[in-house]
Amino acid sequence: MNDDPGLFEIMHSLRAMRRLKPDPVPPAMIDRILDAAIRAPSGQNTQPWAFLVVTDADGKRFFGERYRYWLYERFGEQITRDDPHSALGRSINAARHLADHMHEAPVLLMVMGKRDWPFAVPAAERQGKAPPSYGSVYPCVQNILLAARGLGLGASLTTMHQMFEDELHAHFGIPSDYGVVAVIPIGYPQGRFGPVSREPAASKTHYEHWGRQRRD
Ligand SMILES: Cc1cc2nc3c(=O)[nH]c(=O)nc-3n(C[C@H](O)[C@H](O)[C@H](O)COP(=O)(O)O)c2cc1C
Repeated sequence: MNDDPGLFEIMHSLRAMRRLKPDPVPPAMIDRILDAAIRAPSGQNTQPWAFLVVTDADGKRFFGERYRYWLYERFGEQITRDDPHSALGRSINAARHLADHMHEAPVLLMVMGKRDWPFAVPAAERQGKAPPSYGSVYPCVQNILLAARGLGLGASLTTMHQMFEDELHAHFGIPSDYGVVAVIPIGYPQGRFGPVSREPAASKTHYEHWGRQRRD
């Protein structure tokens, strides 16, 4: 594999890397990833993200135990039912492996977003806690995945924390005006990157009007 892959090679081989080696990741690499993360665009350039880097064993165990419990609670039946050789079965196996080994990932990078009502929600309907600004945080999350891949590190996007987010806030002291958007385990990969396979863009694309194809 090229040591310095180009942008398109990175995007084409950026699959969820859920099997990680326990070897520590140098803090300078995490700094580079975060410096790429904060280059992302955000609505009105508000930069509503915040990061929590968890590397100590207690914090990772706390997160890993809850993540594993909820993954099995949510997908338990599917975990035993799917053919382990099908694409879905392989993906579920990998997700289960990650859940079983979450606490061994060298770094758990939590990405938070400042809570803010989407401007289309009328003031009268703004009840309770606003959601974090997902739209303004996901470009930053994608930059993290791209930067990790660019440095040869494996990472995957997880969101199961939403089942126990209150506990995360209490344990890690996350202020209530932030929501946790994603938790990204990062480490040196056990397997190889890519290629990612997806439905072709042509099957998702319409021209000039929904349902129309391009006239060449
Ligand atoms: C919004 C979002 C939430 C996700 N949550 C999880 C998760 O909780 N656990 C997990 O293992 N993968 C999670 N994923 C990863 C997807 O399962 C993965 O990107 C998808 O299956 C494609 O896999 P591939 O890139 O390896 O082909 C999530 C991805 C997205 C975009």
